[in-house]
Amino acid sequence: MIILKTDEEIEGIRKSGQILAKVLVELRDFIKEGITTWAINKKAEEMVKKLGGKPAFKGYKPSFSRKKYPFATCISVNNEIVHGLPSKKRVLKEGDIVSVDMGVNYKGFFSDAAYTYTVGEVSGEAKRLVEVTREALYIGISKAVAGNRVGDISSAIGGYVKSHGFYPIIDYCGHGVGRRVHEDPSVPNDGVPGTGELLKVGMTLAIEPMVAVGTGRAVIKEDGWTAVTEDGSLAAHFEHTIAILEHGPEILTPWDKDA
Ligand code: MF3
Ligand code: CO
Repeated sequence: MIILKTDEEIEGIRKSGQILAKVLVELRDFIKEGITTWAINKKAEEMVKKLGGKPAFKGYKPSFSRKKYPFATCISVNNEIVHGLPSKKRVLKEGDIVSVDMGVNYKGFFSDAAYTYTVGEVSGEAKRLVEVTREALYIGISKAVAGNRVGDISSAIGGYVKSHGFYPIIDYCGHGVGRRVHEDPSVPNDGVPGTGELLKVGMTLAIEPMVAVGTGRAVIKEDGWTAVTEDGSLAAHFEHTIAILEHGPEILTPWDKDA
């Protein structure tokens, strides 16, 4: 069931999203060669709490898992697509690409966003992958207009990614968000225009292209969480929480404005 939000609820999600965006922007200077993904998680958790929010993923049990997620963030490096576990052993090195995915709960209003950072100089291919994934997110958001359908968002993302020779990940999707971390509808990263749920004013969605160099398929590691590319190729991930308003989509986790 899709939960349409009132203006007051959207305002709550906007506040939640502003906290989250601030954390993701501040991590830009923190993430560099030699630090661990554990330290990034700790920093993000501290910042969210200081800003008055709660880490929404910590203790959350998503439908794809039998266990509760133990950390504030998911941190996925290189061939890891999503749901990577922060680790004291994972030390970042020059050339890595690292995505931080986080949810914030502010007074019962949930936002969800992800950003892929580059560590020092990265390869030309990594740079292109990150740029195409970020651009795919904005192209997807531009289709989040009342009267369109979910498939319009999905096909815009998938089409753009494939036109650049990369692969949209088809095993993980965006989703409704706002009163919970995950709500209906599911928002796939590839699809057919004009199909799927009708988009309406008051919907709040997490749109989250995950893109890989060589495959659209994921496999889950022995830890039960980390999704990696089937072929070991690099993957990137960007995610915004957005609201569908009368005049069009509003980004509720606006990192670029603050940067
Ligand atoms: N960030 C994921 C998403 O965007 C959700 C992670 S849930 C967790 O859908 F439990 F794995 F953290
Ligand atoms: Co999400």
